[in-house]
Amino acid sequence: MSSSKPEEEEKEAPCMNGEVATEDDSSSGEVGVDEAEGEREFAAAMAQLAPEGVRALHARVEAEWGPVLQSACQTAAVRALWARTVRDPAAAVLAGERYLRGLHEKMRRDVRAGAREVHGVMIAVRTLWFDARIEAAVDALGGEPQVVILGAGMDARAYRLNCLKECTVFELDFPELLEMKSDLLHEAMSSANHQKLTLMAKSLIGVPSNIQDGDWVTKLQSCGYVPERNTIWVLEGIIYYLHHADAMQVLETIAASRSSACTVLLADFMNRMRHHSLQPCTISTMTPLSSCCLLLGSLR
Ligand SMILES: C[S@@+](CC[C@H](N)C(=O)[O-])C[C@H]1O[C@@H](n2cnc3c(N)ncnc32)[C@H](O)[C@@H]1O
Repeated sequence: MSSSKPEEEEKEAPCMNGEVATEDDSSSGEVGVDEAEGEREFAAAMAQLAPEGVRALHARVEAEWGPVLQSACQTAAVRALWARTVRDPAAAVLAGERYLRGLHEKMRRDVRAGAREVHGVMIAVRTLWFDARIEAAVDALGGEPQVVILGAGMDARAYRLNCLKECTVFELDFPELLEMKSDLLHEAMSSANHQKLTLMAKSLIGVPSNIQDGDWVTKLQSCGYVPERNTIWVLEGIIYYLHHADAMQVLETIAASRSSACTVLLADFMNRMRHHSLQPCTISTMTPLSSCCLLLGSLR
């Protein structure tokens, strides 16, 4: 695995308007989260970790996984603790106690300091942005496109977006991540307090692969992806982890894998240095995609 960088939660988080919140930049409280509400959300998330099997699996994550794989749990923790913003019933189970606790501490510190930007808000907003774009794209493509999620991590859209009910969803990530995710969901769904967790998508297919290897599209096709069908590609929080050349290669591969069908590419870029060479106009002319929506998270 040559992906290298951890998710940005651990660093200073860029705001949507391109500014950066610091300890001193804390007076206005515009993005406030009430502390008592935060404590309730944390308690509710922790309660979902009750099944013993879930805790045992997360002990393995903590002991065996490196920072790239763990970034998936950090992102799920954001969705679990921003529960008033993002409704994701699987998020706490997929995040695990360590990341829930870590994020909760940071959020509490931000709230107490009256910080303008509370930890995780950027990712919560990003999630909503992708949800809305996916919904619009499914609608525009007639309700039954394939949805391919690269670097799917602990994304649980197949379990929470009703708009995917006629869609086949493909999730690509490293084999150990997809296996762990499936085990965690299985444990949770067989316990009493997670009966409400059900698959919303028509079908969900895991495609274990490293998208920096040249054969991931072949693997995708062998799992049932049909290039001739309308497709929505979702690249959320993943480009950041790829070296520039690999990111461009992935985009080229997506462009090349389409045929006559409609293709929508949804992607976000957190990269401070690299976004100059990945402006929306560059991508839409460089690749023959029918549609390309970008969330530029770091326009500094
Ligand atoms: C920050 S997480 C984002 C996960 C998910 N998209 C989300 O928003 O919840 C980044 C994910 O990308 C995956 N990833 C990073 N490099 C990858 C690669 N070369 N091939 C496949 N997956 C990769 C990691 O394993 C991790 O699950």
